[in-house]
Amino acid sequence: MTTGSAQTALSFTDAAFAEQMREALDAVEERLLKAVDTNQPLLRQSGSHLINAGGKRFRPMLTIACSHFGDPAGPGVLDAAVALELTHLATLYHDDVMDEASVRRGAPSANARWDNSVAILTGDYLFSQAAQIMAELGPDAVRIQASTFARLVRGQINETMPRPEGMDAIEWHLDILSEKTGSLIATCAKFGAWFAGASEETIATAEKFGEVIGVAFQIADDIIDVASDQSGKTPGTDLLEGVPTLPVLYALAGTDPAEARLRELVSGPVPEAELPEALALLRASRALEEAKATLHQYQERARGLAASLPDGQARQALIDICDFMIQREA
Ligand code: IPE
Ligand code: IPE
Ligand code: MG
Ligand code: MG
Repeated sequence: MTTGSAQTALSFTDAAFAEQMREALDAVEERLLKAVDTNQPLLRQSGSHLINAGGKRFRPMLTIACSHFGDPAGPGVLDAAVALELTHLATLYHDDVMDEASVRRGAPSANARWDNSVAILTGDYLFSQAAQIMAELGPDAVRIQASTFARLVRGQINETMPRPEGMDAIEWHLDILSEKTGSLIATCAKFGAWFAGASEETIATAEKFGEVIGVAFQIADDIIDVASDQSGKTPGTDLLEGVPTLPVLYALAGTDPAEARLRELVSGPVPEAELPEALALLRASRALEEAKATLHQYQERARGLAASLPDGQARQALIDICDFMIQREA
């Protein structure tokens, strides 16, 4: 089957598995909409805005895929998938305020459609709904969710800070990606395996897989921000905001005189008038190739972790996810 937004489609090798995935994702969708079905009219509208706009549902897909390491009908699997997607969604509302982004999932971001206050409060409301679902899953789930979210916030805030003295720029950046993106995706994989009753070893490996594929996912996203007009977001948003991404960091670390103009352009927030030039130079740069090479290293690590998991439909699905990542940035 194929699922996801128009610009990115993930297809699973096993047809029966794909059908089960579709059914589970339909159930997730229904519950997501239920979570924002409040009698406060603005929250109902703003909360459903990004759910209806699209999105790949990559995180619930991963939770459901990993639930096939045990019993996918296990109590809590779908609720965990919904709560984690709501958490992700909430971070998107807040992230677009932080990044002053105007487009999300091909639609106006909530801060653009309404204003920052509405976007922040809608994010908060979504967190409250995620917390309510998590509470039903028990104190261990709540604890893990809380520490996952703490890591995510740490990554988001570290991204806005100068790197610590003496720390390598790339290493600092990759740590930030693990925290802001790997953290939640790791927990999505872990909860899928855990609520399905998989073995301790499988749960731990699934979690590691999620962390590594999460970083790969973010690097791919940052490459797409430079390389494609098809992301459902405004290309070059990170450049305009001066948010450092891997291609930019590799550009800044370079010494090739041919890329001197590129280094000058991306050394701070790129002025809007210079964005087309910065994007064109970055698209043709060695720095973009280096970022792709780093992405491939993460993909290979994720593939190695997937290969060490028990053979079966779930493992194949994780390998399909690795393949999808490669097509996505190609
Ligand atoms: C966007 O996540 C934020 C990143 C971690 C790159 P997604 O790319 O999963 O966004 P949606 O859910 O498909 O919109
Ligand atoms: C999003 O980071 C990560 C989280 C929301 C935690 P980005 O700012 O890089 O993602 P996009 O490009 O806006 O989706
Ligand atoms: Mg952003
Ligand atoms: Mg951001």
